[in-house]
Amino acid sequence: MISTSRTLDVDAIRKDFPVLGRILPNGKPLVYLDNAATSQKPRQVLDALTDYYELHNSNVHRGVHTLAEEATALYEGARDAVASFINAPSRDEVVFTKNASESLNLVANMLGWADEPYKVDADSEIVITEMEHHSNIVPWQLLAQRTGAKLKWFGLTDDGRLDLSNIDEIITEKTKVVSFVLVSNILGTVNPVEEIVRRAQAVGALVVIDASQAAPHMPLDVQALEADFVAFTGHKMLAPTGIGVLWGRQELLEDLPPFLGGGEMIETVSMQSSTYAPAPHKFEAGTPPIAQAVGLGAAIEYLNGIGMDAIAAHEHTITEYAVNRLQEVPDLRIIGPATAEGRSGAISFTLGDIHPHDVGQVLDEQGIAVRVGHHCARPVCLRYGIPATTRASFYLYSTEAEVDALIDGLHHVRAFFG
Ligand code: ALA
Repeated sequence: MISTSRTLDVDAIRKDFPVLGRILPNGKPLVYLDNAATSQKPRQVLDALTDYYELHNSNVHRGVHTLAEEATALYEGARDAVASFINAPSRDEVVFTKNASESLNLVANMLGWADEPYKVDADSEIVITEMEHHSNIVPWQLLAQRTGAKLKWFGLTDDGRLDLSNIDEIITEKTKVVSFVLVSNILGTVNPVEEIVRRAQAVGALVVIDASQAAPHMPLDVQALEADFVAFTGHKMLAPTGIGVLWGRQELLEDLPPFLGGGEMIETVSMQSSTYAPAPHKFEAGTPPIAQAVGLGAAIEYLNGIGMDAIAAHEHTITEYAVNRLQEVPDLRIIGPATAEGRSGAISFTLGDIHPHDVGQVLDEQGIAVRVGHHCARPVCLRYGIPATTRASFYLYSTEAEVDALIDGLHHVRAFFG
């Protein structure tokens, strides 16, 4: 594939990703357009994992031997890398989890067990949106069921944006927490953070942002967002699976109770009771995902080496090209914003009456990997009256030639199904 990007040397970047050179069993070269589900990993991240396991493998924080010190330095070094990547005021505000779902469940559980003023109870309201991934719906449903709190949400406009016309009715004096996605995994919509944060702050509600589809693709500054918590996951941003991040404001992490109990998160333990380590360790019970954090640190180093501004600009170019070319395909309906403005490179669509699973299968026969289904955001499919979508999603190594392959593939799908 020849890159035409003016912002990145995509041909050089692609050489760092061994899997992108793969020929599939059917003889077709891989066209990987499922980056919103998970990203591919560059050699630099794979080497960091191998180096860790070959030379430094040990448990962290509890050993006095050389390997334990090296592993601890690598693990805590990854925390420094994350803190700097998201412009956190303090490295102690970065909690490692296993994924974004665990990060969001951690916040929901903390708020269920918190004392005033954070406690969520039967008089409280929790606000989310209709475009959330299930991982930012179910934890809040569970919290509402356990506490008696009322769950409310923002609806969607026909063109795939949040309907904030009733913001003062949705976020009220009773709202304790507002949790919303920065970039939708199914619609690709980039949400207007400031307007929601202003209203939440006006009523004293905490703000939680799911940045899973934002952190890999654009500069992320938790101070500029003015949120209280920000969650994201490593595997969508070139790191291994099994590592997620919860950033939280320091005073909140100090005040709120832990979620999981166990080793690593305590200060002292007696048979009657325990006291807890300071944040972030208070929220990291048990042996943490050490190698995975090291891999995340290497992924961040790789992303920083290219530059998040340049990555965002490249993806915008690819997205604009893809949105325009997709609309050339007869019967294709984009589910979400139909222009590249205020949207990311995750583009969902339907193709006439052809079921997305059939679309995905015929594309796969041509080497093109897309995701089909409800993308763990089923309420969005219900809202638009469709069972599922086909979703193509791009990343720093995506090319216009891959978009062309997708368009050719979709014409082939239409021809195949008559
Ligand atoms: N959340 C991932 C996706 O959207 C799995 O595909």
